[in-house]
Amino acid sequence: MCGIVGYIGSKKAKPILINGLLRLEYRGYDSAGVATIEKNGISVVKNKGRVAELEKLSAIDSLEGTIGIAHTRWATHGKPSTENSHPHVNGKKDFAVVHNGIIENYNELREFLLKQGYTFYSQTDTEVIPNLIDYYFSKDDKDDDKKVLRAVVSACSELKGSFALEILSTHLPDKMIVVRKDSPLVIGKTDTENYISSDIPAILSYTKDFYLLDDYEYVVLSKGSAEFYNSDLKPIKKQTVNIDWNASAAEKDGYDDFMLKEIHEQPKSIRETIGSRLSADGTCNIESLDFTKEYLNSLNKICIVACGTAMHAGLVGKTIFEKFCHIPTEVDIASEFRYRDPLINEKTLVVFITQSGETADTIAALKLSKQKGAKTLAISNVIGSSITREADYTIYTHAGPEIAVASTKAYTSQVVLISILAIYFAKLLEMKGKEIDALKDAILELPSKVEETLKCSKQIKCFAKKVYKEKDLFFLGRGIDYNVALEASLKLKEISYIHSDAYAAGELKHGPIALIEKDITVVSIMTDPNLVEKTISNVQEVITRGAKTLVITNQNLGDHKFDNIITIPETNPLISPILSVIPLQLLAYYISKEKGLDVDKPRNLAKSVTVE
Ligand code: AGP
Repeated sequence: MCGIVGYIGSKKAKPILINGLLRLEYRGYDSAGVATIEKNGISVVKNKGRVAELEKLSAIDSLEGTIGIAHTRWATHGKPSTENSHPHVNGKKDFAVVHNGIIENYNELREFLLKQGYTFYSQTDTEVIPNLIDYYFSKDDKDDDKKVLRAVVSACSELKGSFALEILSTHLPDKMIVVRKDSPLVIGKTDTENYISSDIPAILSYTKDFYLLDDYEYVVLSKGSAEFYNSDLKPIKKQTVNIDWNASAAEKDGYDDFMLKEIHEQPKSIRETIGSRLSADGTCNIESLDFTKEYLNSLNKICIVACGTAMHAGLVGKTIFEKFCHIPTEVDIASEFRYRDPLINEKTLVVFITQSGETADTIAALKLSKQKGAKTLAISNVIGSSITREADYTIYTHAGPEIAVASTKAYTSQVVLISILAIYFAKLLEMKGKEIDALKDAILELPSKVEETLKCSKQIKCFAKKVYKEKDLFFLGRGIDYNVALEASLKLKEISYIHSDAYAAGELKHGPIALIEKDITVVSIMTDPNLVEKTISNVQEVITRGAKTLVITNQNLGDHKFDNIITIPETNPLISPILSVIPLQLLAYYISKEKGLDVDKPRNLAKSVTVE
């Protein structure tokens, strides 16, 4: 997905912009560009392809300016090409703009501007923006220092859709204007500089003090200051937020890929998620929640809404909420939930899980839930992300920045946090029982058990060498193991491009078993003592039909024989996904490596999906 970087200070902007773009590469993109304010006006350098291609252009060496904007583009409107890449300028080149998001009414605006004599050189929705700003600028008779800002505000009031914008103008050569609506944008500040980005990690090495923008807050940036205005051009006050992420957490630290590093970080990230929420003496507290027993008793249901991996974490949450809190719990895909007129009201608690906090469908589902009167609780990993500013309550996973597109440590932290949330609710509801205490103890033991589980790495690497050329793979499980099968299948697809499917093992004979033929690989997960025998029977059925098997288990499998077995530590079956997913994350990783693919930046995918 597109990425934005900007700089305004006393240093040369170009290296800072390029460094920021490189840090945004993980988001996925197909072209890149920069614009700086030079002595003779705005200079734009852009190119199709990677940032490395941009750096090869000789024009980039001549950029000396100390104010600049930059962008990596992930094509939506118009093919990947140099003309379509950002920044975009108006004909007179006195405005340059980079944009994340989608302008839904760009056709209409383009028609209007064409009639006013404007010319367009790209197929993008973005190109209307510098031209629309120019249109309002030219119509404004008043010549004061707010003239560019007025033009930007007027132009933005015409835009439908989502946008995060950085705007340069030769009429305001010492400044930059930025604004956002439904698309992320943050400003990192030092005493003498401002760094702008769509993603905190891109500028984390320069500062830890950030302004987190709300929709339609216009910011006029200069070297050492940031002035904030609302849409009526009234000044507003804004405080910085300290983002306590370690800059080195956004580096590879000697690992070949971010994904491998993030898989291995899981003992630490889980420890951070548990934090002081759960302690050995049995206490369980979640900061910033003020729910009461009466409120929880009044609920008609809990809905968990998310996309992709985050939704898979929600599936685990459902089992625990229902078991310990006795509250009916549904799990929904955000893009389905938002369009199916869900039956929710003020007696529903809707929990949104999102690593990035910027997923467009999840945010839209949250807005819909609020309209319907439901209470909303966000579980996110990114402090100050868009969803956290919309939700009634937010709790953070504290997993540290996740850079690889394939989510790993965010998933395990989400499962940990939702389990702690269920325990917290059970405590408020005065539910008592050995099982709740046992789950608490099991969560506290997780970091060391994850450490232990990671030792299967070598075995998995060998198995990956055997199967990486296959065209199809199947994952089977029952109950909570089926939830893990879904996540394993998604992980494999997204980074190895091997087709795979996950099935509830009991469903096999209702159709999918027709696909089983000699030498096909079936991976099964067996961690629930109550279901292990049932799953073994299903796996026997595929063995009979010639399948090769890999079993991930912490159970005694008796005399049953399988081609490959990975043994993981025992834990409470409710949270076993946190351990059983690890060999499967590694499997996807090593298969992708064997195939020589780009693990961290799989084709067609973006880290945060900020458009619908
Ligand atoms: C995970 O590997 C995926 N890349 C993807 O499914 C992801 O989990 C999904 O897009 C949701 O993202 P979010 O958690 O940032 O909302």
